[in-house]
Amino acid sequence: MSSLILAIESSCDETAASVIKNGREILSNVVSSQIDIHKKYGGVVPEIASRKHVEAIIPIINESLEASKVKLNELNAVAVTNGPGLIGSLLVGLSTAKSIAFSLDVPLIAVDHIEAHAYSVNIENNLNFPYIALVVSGGHTTLYLVNSYNSFELIGKTRDDAAGEAFDKGAKLLGLDYPGGIQIDRLSKEGKKDKYKFPRPFLKTDSFDFSFSGVKTSLVHFLKKHEITSNQDLSDVCASYQEAIAETLVEKTLRAAKQFSINDVAITGGVASNSRIRELAQKRFDQNNINLFIPDIKYCTDNAVMIAKLGHQKFENGEFSDLDIDVYSTKRSAYTRGKGFKNS
Ligand code: KG4
Ligand code: ZN
Repeated sequence: MSSLILAIESSCDETAASVIKNGREILSNVVSSQIDIHKKYGGVVPEIASRKHVEAIIPIINESLEASKVKLNELNAVAVTNGPGLIGSLLVGLSTAKSIAFSLDVPLIAVDHIEAHAYSVNIENNLNFPYIALVVSGGHTTLYLVNSYNSFELIGKTRDDAAGEAFDKGAKLLGLDYPGGIQIDRLSKEGKKDKYKFPRPFLKTDSFDFSFSGVKTSLVHFLKKHEITSNQDLSDVCASYQEAIAETLVEKTLRAAKQFSINDVAITGGVASNSRIRELAQKRFDQNNINLFIPDIKYCTDNAVMIAKLGHQKFENGEFSDLDIDVYSTKRSAYTRGKGFKNS
């Protein structure tokens, strides 16, 4: 069936829209970031984020339609993120999507943000199911066994901070700008990753859960005893800190692939843009003859193409949402393979 789907994403601090044709052709990918506004507060301020989404959403949708050369009344469906994320921000996207779907009398398709990240690897590739997907972003660190576009089995998640938070909070402690992940990545390129040793939590347990608050706390203690006096030393600290996060993520994901005998693995989400994680993952998965797929950076950080892509699968299968569907801030899924809280 020929289809034109508009997708909207507004779960955090990016207002994004995309139009996708027949589930494959990306006609537009528009992202408006609020980073410069939140930077001076050192993190995302939810109230400000909602207001900025209100200002941006219609212009961004119009820009996306214009870039696609598609008229509103040509759309066959509207896909939108309805969680997890900031409630006020999500409401802006969902209400807009509902209004468009209602006025055009086309289906509304609600999409889960984390599942869309896990599925985003299919924007540029076509993975066979099942595959393992690690979703690492500012708010989430989740390991899935993906059996199909609508079966994301939870096998591990963070018990406290997300990997992105470990980067952002660590960067703040080091006096770097928000969002810190990208700054740590940049400075680490000049640093020695083995200079200092930061903990690799849960690495030795057989649980696939993660915990990143301890890494951040260890940096707090380290900085109490250690004064950074040169740019080189700052780079060394960044590289060593980054290595602890990268190694934990990569080794646990590799172990999951081996345990479930899976040959295709995806690493997705904003933190998957990290150059060291990309490099280390490639090396370790190559050594183990497991195929690794990491999306292009523009599909790692928040975007609406991933919402469109998963939305299209739901469209094809007639999985539409009611117009009274609500937003949700957190995702509560149960472990399906019973490894979550064992042995740690
Ligand atoms: O997926 P995303 O855009 O938004 C959420 O759903 O949270 O992820 C944002 C996170 C932030 O924590 C940011 O610091 C991190 O991704 N990030 C990075 C890099 N680029 C973005 N972390 C490490 N290295 C990077 N190069
Ligand atoms: Zn995200």
